[in-house]
Amino acid sequence: MSTRSKVEVKGFEARHYDVLMNIVTLGTYPSFLRRVIGNMGLQEGDKVADFGAGTGRNALLMRKHIGDKGELVAFEVGEEMISQARSRFLRYDNMRIESQDIRVPLEYKGYFDVVFMSFVLHGFEQSDRAKIVENANRALKHRGRIFILDYSEFDIGNMNPIARYLFTHLECPLALEFVSMDIKTFLSERGFSDFREKFYYYGYVRLLCGKKVNRDEI
Ligand SMILES: C[S@@+](CC[C@H](N)C(=O)[O-])C[C@H]1O[C@@H](n2cnc3c(N)ncnc32)[C@H](O)[C@@H]1O
Repeated sequence: MSTRSKVEVKGFEARHYDVLMNIVTLGTYPSFLRRVIGNMGLQEGDKVADFGAGTGRNALLMRKHIGDKGELVAFEVGEEMISQARSRFLRYDNMRIESQDIRVPLEYKGYFDVVFMSFVLHGFEQSDRAKIVENANRALKHRGRIFILDYSEFDIGNMNPIARYLFTHLECPLALEFVSMDIKTFLSERGFSDFREKFYYYGYVRLLCGKKVNRDEI
């Protein structure tokens, strides 16, 4: 993994990831996540892939929408994250976590209705971002949807001073580059269209949805 990235979460931070997110966001994270996942329009029975799933917290919220008939497969590389997600999923037959690098093609082709990735894409080099998005495209059904929950596009220079200080000190160099990336063009070059977006946290965070429109492999 590039030294410009902080996307691989390990040790203390991994073991206490959910609590730390609640603290950093001054307790707003649980309601934010419920709102985001409610805004995705998941349907009962949907098959969902969660790329870089972390502790499985988001997956569990998505399960409420897809129900017993749906299926959720989480993909993760972090050992501490995998073990937390695995114990969260134990009581559900239709949820599982696979140890899988999301830059490497998955076993699944045209299988999922939805691929979700939350605060994952910003932490990769551009060539790896392309691999991840192409991988998501292959794993999705035709007209399946990709959801990217991550930093939106903004000018760091125009941030309020506190937000700018936190963002530039807590985040990695790749995230600082990510916010100036035209992600819709990036996705449309990789088989996605019909974009919809919702913004949170004063517009600094976005849930972006695109539909897979290609039938052939990318
Ligand atoms: C910032 S965390 C976000 C976790 C989760 N998506 C969330 O929103 O709570 C990024 C996650 O991506 C995982 N990750 C990093 N590189 C990965 C890779 N190459 N393949 C799969 N997962 C990866 C990390 O282990 C970590 O759990």
